[in-house]
Amino acid sequence: MAERIPIASDHAGFELKERLKEALRRRGYEPEDLGPSSDASTDYADYAHPVAERVSTGAAPRGILMCGTGLGMSYAANRHPHVRAAVAWAPEIARLSREHNDANVLVLPARFVGADEAE
Ligand code: RB5
Repeated sequence: MAERIPIASDHAGFELKERLKEALRRRGYEPEDLGPSSDASTDYADYAHPVAERVSTGAAPRGILMCGTGLGMSYAANRHPHVRAAVAWAPEIARLSREHNDANVLVLPARFVGADEAE
């Protein structure tokens, strides 16, 4: 069965979220889109908490968040027990966040990372 990966953004990360959902499907994962459904202005915390909650409770082993800088999403997600949300702006950072920090939520700074690199 495909791993279900919760994914969410705010308005700044919306476009990237849509692209990454497709990328995840191509790689055999099942993205669970927790919003938003458009690029209308939103508060990042409203979308960070549902993803973090799933990881915190063990409902999902890992999740993906994105906002403009990655910072707001990481602040909100890291308030949840057992969540280790890491902002990664390059593949090497993402790899190290797994190997050295056991990160379980990937946070992408959508305004500072290209879509190809994010993928
Ligand atoms: C939204 O403009 C921006 O502030 C937000 O995406 C994020 O960067 C917050 O941390």
